[in-house]
This record gives sequence, C-alpha cells and structure tokens, in this order.
Amino acid sequence: MKIKTLSLIVLATILVAACSTSPNVETTSAPVTEQQTITAATDSQENTASNSGDSSTAAEVSFSKDIFPVIQQFALPAHGQQQKGGISLANYEDIMEYVVPGDPAASELYKRLTGDGVPVMPPTGKLPDDTIQLFYDWIAQGAKNN
Ligand code: HEM
Repeated sequence: MKIKTLSLIVLATILVAACSTSPNVETTSAPVTEQQTITAATDSQENTASNSGDSSTAAEVSFSKDIFPVIQQFALPAHGQQQKGGISLANYEDIMEYVVPGDPAASELYKRLTGDGVPVMPPTGKLPDDTIQLFYDWIAQGAKNN
C-alpha cells in the first residue's frame, strides 16, 4: 500500500515536471523594425584646405625664416652696428620703421629693394627677383613678426 502511494507520488511529480518543461514557443520576436540608418559619414565640414593666404595666393612668408636672414646677410653689414645713413635694420621693430604693413609700394624697404625712385639696396646690385618677391609678399600679408 505504502509503495503504491509512493510510486503514485513519484509518477505525479514526473508528470508535473514533464508538463512544466513544455516546449518554449517563445519566438524571440525582437523588434526588427529598428532601422539603423547607416548615416554615411557625411563630413560636410570638409575644410577645402585652401591656403587662405589673405590678399594674395602666395604661401605665408615668415619674417624669421624668410626675411630676416636676407637682411642679416645683405643689410646688416651696413645697417647693423654701423647704421649707414643713420638707418638700422637690426631687428623687427627697426625694420618696421620702413614698412607700411599691407602696402609694399608705399614701403621704403621695398622701394629700396626695387630701386623705385631711390638708390637701390644693396648698392652693389638688386637682390634676385624671387627674394624681392618674398619681401613683397611678406609686406602684403601684413608684415607680421612671424
Ligand atoms: C634689405 C634692405 C637693404 C639692404 C640689403 C641694404 C644694403 C645696404 C648696404 C650694403 C649699404 C652699404 C653701402 C656701402 O657701404 O657702400 C647700404 C647703405 C645705405 N643704405 Fe641700405 N640697405 C637696405 C635697406 C635700406 C633702406 C630701407 C634704406 C633707407 C630707408 C637704406 C638706406 C641706405 C643709405 C642711406 C646708405 C648709405 C649709402 C652710402 O653710405 O653711400 N637702405 N645699404
């Protein structure tokens, strides 16, 4: 008798267990409606890397790299310590006495280099055209202490 009820209980538990593990019909229906709009990285801010050199298309001229070395070589023997003609071109501030930023034609420094109405500098002969052009561009670009 006891065995009968025991086996019944066992059977019942097996039945209950079998029922609870019924096939999970969970069709994992995750919302597939997520439209991942693949935004093609539209970098609209593409800086058209243009040499936005003001007032001219010339590359930026550097005072320290392009201008002063020329002055050092050709002008300072006369316009350094000696100050020939009472003129010093020893440093940026002194040089700016003869420069009108943005206006090469009005700048004594440029006029001297081209000999425009004044004795050409250096007196031994004009500097090469591309060197004079550097001075022109530097002054046109604002004669910065760059
Ligand atoms: C990069 C620009 C310049 C260079 C390379 C330069 C070069 C020279 C040189 C080498 C001399 C000596 C000449 C000699 O001893 O026989 C000289 C003299 C002189 N420079 Fe310049 N110079 C420049 C700019 C200027 C400027 C901007 C002025 C005027 C504002 C000027 C006015 C004079 C004067 C008055 C003399 C004296 C001339 C003489 O003693 O007979 N120079 N320069």
